[in-house]
Amino acid sequence: MKAVVYNTYGGPEVLKIQDVSIPKPKSNEVLIKVDSISLNPVDAKARRGGFRPMSDLLKFPRITGSDFAGIITETGNRVSGFKVGDAVYGWAQPLLNNGSAAEMVCISEKAIALAPNNISLSEASAIPCGALTSLISLRDLAPIRNGHKVLINGASGGTGTMATQIAKIFGGEITVVTSPNNSERIKNDYKPDRIINYTKDDFVNLEDQYDVIFDVQGNKAINEVEHCLTSNGIYVTTQPSIYSSIDVVKSVLSKKKSKIVICRSRTSDLNMIRLWVEENKIKPAIEKVYDFDQFKDAYEHLATGHVKGKLILKI
Ligand SMILES: NC(=O)c1ccc[n+]([C@@H]2O[C@H](COP(=O)([O-])OP(=O)(O)OC[C@H]3O[C@@H](n4cnc5c(N)ncnc54)[C@H](OP(=O)(O)O)[C@@H]3O)[C@@H](O)[C@H]2O)c1
Repeated sequence: MKAVVYNTYGGPEVLKIQDVSIPKPKSNEVLIKVDSISLNPVDAKARRGGFRPMSDLLKFPRITGSDFAGIITETGNRVSGFKVGDAVYGWAQPLLNNGSAAEMVCISEKAIALAPNNISLSEASAIPCGALTSLISLRDLAPIRNGHKVLINGASGGTGTMATQIAKIFGGEITVVTSPNNSERIKNDYKPDRIINYTKDDFVNLEDQYDVIFDVQGNKAINEVEHCLTSNGIYVTTQPSIYSSIDVVKSVLSKKKSKIVICRSRTSDLNMIRLWVEENKIKPAIEKVYDFDQFKDAYEHLATGHVKGKLILKI
């Protein structure tokens, strides 16, 4: 099968299309004919060697990509939740799975769900990583209650657009931080209560306090945002690092907590997200759909750090 692979760590220039063997599903896995994938910064981080030394244990060539949607063509003999022909979506966690930018992907049945029935598979592929990360952050790590004041820092990309919509479902009063390039779109599509233009104002210099700060952009730290949190406020960052881990430990003794989100793909969470999509409470934001052979252009655009929602690669 054809796959977008890299044989050495590096930028988008190391990617190429290569023939690789079709994976064989283990007993708890399904084989999926991939319709589309969407691009995530984590794909680029893995490709650049950002998960070394752990990623050195995996062999080259490595298939890039993580989000996907497609049709099941084969099931392992212990798979009970899905059958051949099901349209599914999910996130193939880098380091644990082969990448998704391939004609076929093999993955545990526990990491996928039926795709929403009111959107295309391309649109469905835009959802998993951003929505799962936002759900874990805003339901489990910093549970939003009705009327909570919530700030989403970095609301215009793949994760921020999902976080804004999910925070709304949970009843948050939402402030989003974005550039002026995206503020009109965010205002019209998601109707947040307030928009802060980060090219003009840094939210840490403003007076307002929040019950939850979801730092999707990950360019702050608890000591910078502490005064912006209410007395029991929670700060969640998407950036695991030695510094953010120390912040988490230090905040154990404080009423204001610092937490790090790590995305995980689970059927129950994807099912919840699917229902929200089918009830029109969530819709994916897609900037551009690329053909398979345009993979380099797509990953170069991702590298700008200014994607408006998601980029899709048709397989
Ligand atoms: N820990 C996890 O499991 C996990 C899961 C998902 C994502 N992440 C991480 O979260 C980050 C964001 O992911 P993503 O999927 O949303 O990426 P993305 O789709 O590439 O979006 C990036 C967005 O950031 C905005 N941005 C750039 N500079 C900004 C700034 N100074 N302040 C506020 N917003 C800014 C851009 O909007 P403008 O054009 O308006 O600037 C762009 O839309 C990445 O670093 C990713 O690796 C981690």
